Amino acid sequence: MIREMTNAESGRLKAVDMSRIVNVEDLRRAARRRLPRSVFDYIDGGADGEVTLRENVRAFQDVAFRPRCAVETPPPDLRTTVIGTPISMPVIFAPVGSSRMFWPRGEEAAAATAGAAGTIYSLSTLSGCRLEDVKKATSGPAWYQLYLCGGRDVASATLQRARDAGYSALILTIDTAVAGMRERDLRNGSKQLLTRKLGPMLPYVWQFAARPSWLAGFLRDGGLMKFPNVMLPDGPMLYADVSLALEQSTVTWRDLRWIREIWTGPVVIKGVHTAEDARRALDEGANAICVSNHGGRQLDGVHATIRVLPEIVDAVGGRVEVLLDGGVRRGGDVVKALCLGARAVLIGRAYAYGLAAAGGPGVARAVDILRSDIVRTLKLLGCASVRELNGSLVDAPRDWMPRSLTSA
Ligand SMILES: Cc1cc2nc3c(=O)[nH]c(=O)nc-3n(C[C@H](O)[C@H](O)[C@H](O)COP(=O)(O)O)c2cc1C
Repeated sequence: MIREMTNAESGRLKAVDMSRIVNVEDLRRAARRRLPRSVFDYIDGGADGEVTLRENVRAFQDVAFRPRCAVETPPPDLRTTVIGTPISMPVIFAPVGSSRMFWPRGEEAAAATAGAAGTIYSLSTLSGCRLEDVKKATSGPAWYQLYLCGGRDVASATLQRARDAGYSALILTIDTAVAGMRERDLRNGSKQLLTRKLGPMLPYVWQFAARPSWLAGFLRDGGLMKFPNVMLPDGPMLYADVSLALEQSTVTWRDLRWIREIWTGPVVIKGVHTAEDARRALDEGANAICVSNHGGRQLDGVHATIRVLPEIVDAVGGRVEVLLDGGVRRGGDVVKALCLGARAVLIGRAYAYGLAAAGGPGVARAVDILRSDIVRTLKLLGCASVRELNGSLVDAPRDWMPRSLTSA
């Protein structure tokens, strides 16, 4: 049982009782209790009508297991490799921007926990901690996720820093031509709060007063974070400038060519929804593909990721590994994705809720929940290791399957 409060908050605040946290939804509720509404909704919300956000989670229910019973099940082996990197379980931490707003030095706390759990932490360009400090905080491998904020020269300098700091792969996110339309952010006054002018801010500041524990941590951590991995000529990019910076720096396939000259390690293309883009990513030299719709935060109305996974696995034809993120809240979801051809999954909100609820121990609880879910699911399926997972262990709707498989 974990019952801990981390860092400077200990002693002053009521700890989250981890024995009462049974699933990721419990972590979500704990995060909601601790965070001001605008910060909670930033994590929890999605784009427009949040159709894709909901569908990412729901669509896992359309996949049913087909277990093999009455077989001996030793403790299952969850270990795998992703682009050559060994990990303790097929779950990787997705890049989650602004984690420092959820918990003091949030990126470092999450990275440390990922490393202790034996898996990869992915650091977003839009993080509040220096990439060197985050790498130092983890005993495990780390990947760096690139946005081209600030333009090519700024990104080149960051890539060199990431390489020198020991990041082993680059994630290039291709689904963020503009920031998605997050209605919750508008309602919560996220724009007005960044003006730092009392008049516009006034109707929205109540939410901070209602969350003194978060506020105390936020102030002790230096207040509103900047982006120290986007170093502009006059210093780190400011929080208020992020939307415009994203819009001015759309990643295109052409960029992959100059990025490749600076970054010689593996590149993961994140944000692939279709067989067409998967094939394009292969043509451009991707070393892995991540089927992702940004957790329903960008283009609303696209399919759930688990639904398009079979089409993309088919298009890739085993040439590179396929990863998936979006809607993973239970270990059973991880197992379903692996049965349908994913090498591993990335989790975003599942660990972000834990971080926001209780810092490192909250993240560790999220990982423990998923790990024990996966172990139990494998045993109930009659599998001794994640390597044994295959399509015969699940039924998915026929119209998810690529034409090449259904016409057989
Ligand atoms: C609060 C938050 C911030 C995110 N920031 C980034 C980011 O900076 N870069 C990126 O490529 N993806 C970002 N994502 C998307 C995640 O990497 C991932 O695709 C998504 O969270 C997966 O869906 P899930 O949250 O349902 O697991 C973010 C997601 C969340 C929830």
